[in-house]
Amino acid sequence: MQIKHIFVTGAGTMGNGIAQTAATSGFHVTLMDIDQQQLERARETMQKSADRLLSRGKLSEEQRAAVDQIRLVSELDAVREADLAIEAATENPELKLKIFADLDRLARPEVILASNTSSISITKIGGGTQRPDRVIGMHFMNPVPLMRLVEVIRGLATSDETTGVILDVCRKMGKEPVEAKDSPGFISNRILCPMINEAIFALQEGVGDAKAIDTVMKLGMNHPMGPLELCDLIGLDVVLYVMEVLHRDLGEDKYRPASLLRRMVDAGHLGRKTGRGFYEYNRGL
Ligand SMILES: NC(=O)c1ccc[n+]([C@@H]2O[C@H](COP(=O)([O-])OP(=O)(O)OC[C@H]3O[C@@H](n4cnc5c(N)ncnc54)[C@H](O)[C@@H]3O)[C@@H](O)[C@H]2O)c1
Repeated sequence: MQIKHIFVTGAGTMGNGIAQTAATSGFHVTLMDIDQQQLERARETMQKSADRLLSRGKLSEEQRAAVDQIRLVSELDAVREADLAIEAATENPELKLKIFADLDRLARPEVILASNTSSISITKIGGGTQRPDRVIGMHFMNPVPLMRLVEVIRGLATSDETTGVILDVCRKMGKEPVEAKDSPGFISNRILCPMINEAIFALQEGVGDAKAIDTVMKLGMNHPMGPLELCDLIGLDVVLYVMEVLHRDLGEDKYRPASLLRRMVDAGHLGRKTGRGFYEYNRGL
């Protein structure tokens, strides 16, 4: 099946990046969110990002113009016209199962339903639909327009054909797909989130302040960003949620979320998206 039209559900950090990248890669794109304000913010974020990429010579004028053609909608019905649906809504299993049941009901039978989930089992998501062979994980990295990796996760029932189509779509989007097993956190978050969580433990125990911890990892380990800066970029709620899944599903104490992480999420300090996390940000920049 030829994929021309991609429907993205969830216009937050990841959804708008996926929509932007799909549009600049030549796909026709519809971006859906239940929150109208979020859709407006997404439009602005995508335009600013595409302007920056154009000014650095990373996008052509034609690719930049494609971003303005992304259709914004607030109803799932629009998936009826799509050839592929990519879900990037809030990381919550009940919410995702409901969205997949609705997408399954509304999308044409041959359409592949992909999830950008960081931690929820693809087998479980697929099992809630009538098309588990056409359900797959497409785990993009943040920020999507810049990061080359997509982890591709097959559920137990995902077909070879579905996997082949998705590997091709990733490559057409200029990404390098890597297959990972449907195991908690896949490869990326199984390794990354415990490292970030450990940095938060070090902060709460006063081993160093945020700047010291990030500087050690940048200058000493050659990481492009410190773990606390990265946590602010990912979203503290997302990191907490992944740690809870690793802790529960792998059953080991080493995955226990740091209490400071919980407190900051309770306080609504979710990182860049709320203007405050381990650092402060100017909202909208
Ligand atoms: N943030 C990251 O770095 C990162 C990286 C890889 C994967 N992910 C995954 O991507 C997904 C999205 O994460 P995010 O960071 O973009 O979250 P986010 O909080 O920035 O955005 C989530 C969006 O989903 C929308 N939403 C909620 N319910 C919805 C519904 N019923 N229908 C449509 N939209 C709905 C919200 O309004 C919001 O705009 C999650 O599954 C997360 O685990 C995140």
